[in-house]
Amino acid sequence: MLLLVVVSVFLSVGHSDPAVGSSYVAGVYEHHVILNPDPIVPVNRSEALQHLKKNLDIYEEQAARAAKQGAQILVFPEDGLQGFNNFTRSAIYSYLETIPDPQQESWNPCTEPGRYKNTEVLQRLSCMARRYNLYLVANMGDLQPCPLQSPPSPICPPDGHWQFNTDVAFSSDGLLVARYHKYNLFYERAFDKPPQPEIITFDTPFAGKFGLIICFDILFHDPTIALVEKGVRQLIFPTAWMSKLPLLDSIQFQRAFSLGANVSLLAANIRYDPLNMSGSGIYTPFSATYHHAKTGEPEEGRLLVARVPVLDPLWVGQGVATESSSSSATDSGYFHQDSCIDPPPPSSVPPSYITFTSLMMNDPYTFILLNNTEDKLQVCNGTFCCHLQYRFLPQDGSKELYALGAFAGMHRHYALQVCAVVRCANLEASSCGKGVKEAESKMEFVLEGTFGTRYVYPSVLASSVVLEEPKSLQKTADGRVTMKHWNMTGGLVTACLYGRMYHLDHE
Ligand SMILES: *[C@@H]1O[C@H](CO)[C@@H](O)[C@H](O)[C@H]1NC(C)=O
Ligand SMILES: *[C@@H]1O[C@H](CO)[C@@H](O)[C@H](O)[C@H]1NC(C)=O
Ligand SMILES: *[C@@H]1O[C@H](CO)[C@@H](O)[C@H](O)[C@H]1NC(C)=O
Ligand SMILES: *[C@@H]1O[C@H](CO)[C@@H](O)[C@H](O)[C@H]1NC(C)=O
Ligand SMILES: *[C@@H]1O[C@H](CO)[C@@H](O)[C@H](O)[C@H]1NC(C)=O
Ligand SMILES: *[C@@H]1O[C@H](CO)[C@@H](O)[C@H](O)[C@H]1NC(C)=O
Ligand SMILES: *[C@@H]1O[C@H](CO)[C@@H](O)[C@H](O)[C@H]1NC(C)=O
Repeated sequence: MLLLVVVSVFLSVGHSDPAVGSSYVAGVYEHHVILNPDPIVPVNRSEALQHLKKNLDIYEEQAARAAKQGAQILVFPEDGLQGFNNFTRSAIYSYLETIPDPQQESWNPCTEPGRYKNTEVLQRLSCMARRYNLYLVANMGDLQPCPLQSPPSPICPPDGHWQFNTDVAFSSDGLLVARYHKYNLFYERAFDKPPQPEIITFDTPFAGKFGLIICFDILFHDPTIALVEKGVRQLIFPTAWMSKLPLLDSIQFQRAFSLGANVSLLAANIRYDPLNMSGSGIYTPFSATYHHAKTGEPEEGRLLVARVPVLDPLWVGQGVATESSSSSATDSGYFHQDSCIDPPPPSSVPPSYITFTSLMMNDPYTFILLNNTEDKLQVCNGTFCCHLQYRFLPQDGSKELYALGAFAGMHRHYALQVCAVVRCANLEASSCGKGVKEAESKMEFVLEGTFGTRYVYPSVLASSVVLEEPKSLQKTADGRVTMKHWNMTGGLVTACLYGRMYHLDHE
């Protein structure tokens, strides 16, 4: 490890990037947004500003708190200013500001407030970044004339302008340094999809480049994987994510993405219990600092601040580490070799297992029950197969049913290959795949699949939405991914290898 660090530092000489081995302090704020009571009725600008000010005042308090804890960058969630409650196109209009393109001009809204009209929100955010001396990322609505100058687009919305769901980033002196328009909209009738995906990054003196994505974007190639493949190792992820067990709880996928893509992720979610919106965190390939609402907790905001390492900017993301044949496996990531686990012996006589199909996340998974205290199983969906070796820890009382599921196919317009061990909702096989939050059974296991993609996102979710770090992850050049885990601290809810077959997606 020491040798590795020395080599990396040597390679960075001559670069403006911060040295490997350095670190920075990041903050994310999970915001309990004050909603507009009626997202259908258009309001005038002064009413919109009155509403926006309530949320901006909370941002201001949190920026002050984050700065006190040393934060150098602070991220606020998607829809955190105007609210997420599905505005109509006309009802959101007064909330929008025309955000100049920071690639075309340099503008500090705080020091030069007079340059553009109707930019109160941009001014307020810029002054916040300046006052608290931190990089600040927030999400707001952008109003742009149509057709856009660059790139030119033949398609204009009928009302003659674009409305974009937008991330803005400010440097610590208030300069607007980045503007990103959300590409993968999630049924948002107020906003337009930009004609092309935008690959947007900004530079910081303390950690180099950060890439910007928004919510649903995280599941798609553009812009998310395009950023990763350009070697961007730090992604900023404002979101308004409705958690959905057993595979797409907010923090479960945040953690899985950071591990699977070998990047850091600064994730800020909305807190809103009626839609199961909660779950924010600061993730690196080595660590996770996160928050997730627990049943019965007061519905309120939450600031997270953590010191995290700067990742080697020279490492260009392949999303895969080939299995090293040498014995000098490093501890530089979670995908590494290890020999600690003592896997359960395969059963001598393979029993004849019954597979069944059950819906999970609306997709037909092929399942097989974990019918013994320990066993070795395989289940396939077509030619895609998932393997599991498991051993339940002895436990009195709790009777819980588990199943191993495999799915290879389209989920809506995007293609998946998934292996998952889930706790079923009750003792009926038909309940396997339904979401449950609690579990008591602990097991050690090896979960493995051979994927047709190098983008496989691993996760282990324990009872009451607690994340566990997989004890070991390995990938081979032919796509085999192996996750080993043992010594669980809570009951197992889901263990998952979530493969994204980006190349098979439909538009
Ligand atoms: C905005 O709407 C409110 C409430 O309808 C009204 O009282 C106010 O005069 C309007 N302001 C402007 C500038 O039109
Ligand atoms: C928003 O409203 C539209 C129209 O009623 C609906 O089609 C869409 O699904 C809604 N989106 C969400 C996220 O609820
Ligand atoms: C929220 O999650 C619970 C289970 O944890 C589920 O029963 C409920 O339907 C979810 N609500 C929504 C709006 O998805
Ligand atoms: C993750 O990135 C680090 C460099 O930051 C590299 O050493 C390691 O091999 C990568 N891990 C994987 C699984 O690609
Ligand atoms: C579970 O195991 C029992 C005996 O151990 C067997 O009778 C039963 O068929 C098995 N069920 C399934 C679904 O494999
Ligand atoms: C997976 O299973 C589903 C449902 O049983 C089936 O329709 C689909 O063809 C299978 N996928 C493959 C790749 O065979
Ligand atoms: C299991 O966890 C305990 C407590 O964290 C630790 O002391 C022990 O060494 C772990 N055992 C294994 C096999 O990793």
